Formats: sequence, structure tokens, C-alpha cells
Amino acid sequence: MLRQAILNTLKENPGAWVSGEALSERLNVSRTTVWKQIRHLLDEGYAIESASKKGYRMIGAPDLLSPDEVQPDLTTEVFGRQGYFYFREIDSTNNYARNAAQQGAPEGTVVVAEMQTAGRGRRGRTWFSPAAKGIYMSIILRPVMPLPQLSRLPLMAAVALAESIRAETGLDARIKWPNDILVGNKKLAGILSEAIADMDGIDYVVVGFGLNINNDPGEFPPDLRMPATSVQAERNQPLSRVRLMQILLHNLELYYKQLLAGDFDSILSKARDLSMVIGQDVRLDTTEGSIVGRAIDLNQDGYLVVASPDGSIQTVMSGEIEVVDS
Ligand code: BTN
Repeated sequence: MLRQAILNTLKENPGAWVSGEALSERLNVSRTTVWKQIRHLLDEGYAIESASKKGYRMIGAPDLLSPDEVQPDLTTEVFGRQGYFYFREIDSTNNYARNAAQQGAPEGTVVVAEMQTAGRGRRGRTWFSPAAKGIYMSIILRPVMPLPQLSRLPLMAAVALAESIRAETGLDARIKWPNDILVGNKKLAGILSEAIADMDGIDYVVVGFGLNINNDPGEFPPDLRMPATSVQAERNQPLSRVRLMQILLHNLELYYKQLLAGDFDSILSKARDLSMVIGQDVRLDTTEGSIVGRAIDLNQDGYLVVASPDGSIQTVMSGEIEVVDS
């Protein structure tokens, strides 16, 4: 592809002039055709200088989650390498990934969008997904593991996400069991895992990540349940979404391999360390009703262990949790 060839050539020579003549000879097209492609790249957000007699030079790349920007410095073996679907706009990356998985897309396939028009959160909520402000990304997994252990997977994803955010931003990002990432009492990121399994086992899991990154503090729609925040709002400076996405894919692959290799203990101990609910008094809304008590641990399946005031101990697979003042 011509666009790709020109982009690669300019990227291989960052800051250096590449003459239009050299490009047109190398790619066997006219100089006008080269210029047209340069104009497309400028429209996409690439900063390319042009000067007569000198040609073109790349001075900056946009912070877009396109394969051109994310894949070159990706340190994964599989995740985001085999299949990478990139959209300027989509309804929901989880929806797309589910269809792709249904049609046989391999493990590690990534679906990412600059904006979502119908981003989905847990429990039927919507996920605020304005253009180029966050990361809206889904990954297809095909884990070979016993069905009862499937609950380990979202916890693994939460550990990978929290650690990536911490490493890249220095923020004290913590896991609000099971799937929210908070800074203080504000939500920075969330995970929506959707699994399809039958009697033969797990067919696929789509894990969707929504991260608020370069949003201004005032731009979030009001949420009575939990206020939202972004990296920009917390640090007062923007962050490269490309870099964070690369690190997230790296950590995800790392912990996923550990999980499949049977080493859940080290992930669990990280989850305990990163948890913001263990040791706190909580109220949990589950499908079986409300539970009030102290969150005391995460068990071998990633369930929350809650000690009630009457001394009974309950383990909860999933639910809506609220930390209550004691
Ligand atoms: C939550 O906290 O409620 C989960 C939010 C998950 C949002 C992400 S954004 C990418 C992917 N596509 C979706 O429609 N949802 C997830």
C-alpha cells in the first residue's frame, strides 16, 4: 500500500528530509501521487514538513491507536499482532469482537476504536467514549481452563490494567473489586468481560477495557453511583494513549500466560495488594440480595470473602460493591 510505504519511509528517517523524487522513484509513482498521500497523512494528524528542493520530513506522529502507531513498539508475542481491527468510530468494540470471535478470529485479536457511539458498561450501563480521549479496546481470548476457574480471568485483567496505569502514570490506581479501577474514590477505568461457553467448555471470552485518559474533569456526564476521573484530570497533563495501550497489552499477555500455566497465586497476591476494598466495611448487591460486612480476602477463584457481623463468612462471585463508612 502506497500510504503505508510512504509512512514507513518517513518513520524510518525521523526528522530527516526525504526527497519527493526519491520517494516517487522508489515507489514508482508520480510526485503528485506522493504529495496526495502526504496530504492524507497530514489529515490523519501526522506532522510532516515539506520544503522545495528538500522534500518531506516527519516531525511528529498523532496519538492514534491505529496499528501504524501501536504495533511497531508492541512487545507482545501474540496479543495485538495477528488481528488488529481499528476504527475511528464504532458502536461498541465488545460487540465487534464478539462477532469476530464467533466467526473464528484467533486469540489475541484486538478491536480498538477512537470513539464508541454505544459503548457498554457492566449491568447495562453505557460507557462514555468521546473521540480520541480514552482507550476503548476489546481483546478476544480462548482460554483452555476449567469453567469454574473462569472468574479468575477478569481479576487477572484488572491486575494487568491497574499495574499498567500505575506504571505509566504514577497514579495510585486501585482495584475496586471486581472490575473497576479507581483513583481515590473516582473511577478511571472499567472492564467488561463477556464469555461464551457451552457444555464442551469455554468458546471465547471478550475482555473490553475502557480507560479515561485525556478527558477534562468537567466533561463526564453526571453519575450518581460513582464520579469519573481521567489521567489528565488527576495529573494535569495529558498522556500518550499509544504507550499505555502497548503496556496494557504487554501486561495482559504476561499475566494471561501465567494464568494458563496454573500460576494464579502470584496474580492473586497482586490483586490483594491492589485492592481498595479488602479490610473495608462494604455493602454488596448480589443477585441473591444484599450483604453487609467486612471484605476480608479474595479466594482462589477471585471471589470476594466477606465476614458478616454475625460471624458468618460468605464468598461472592460478583456484585455491586460499595464501601461504607465504619
Ligand atoms: C464498566 O466499568 O462498567 C465496564 C466498562 C467497559 C467499557 C469498555 S470500552 C471498550 C469495550 N467496549 C464496550 O462497549 N465496553 C468496553
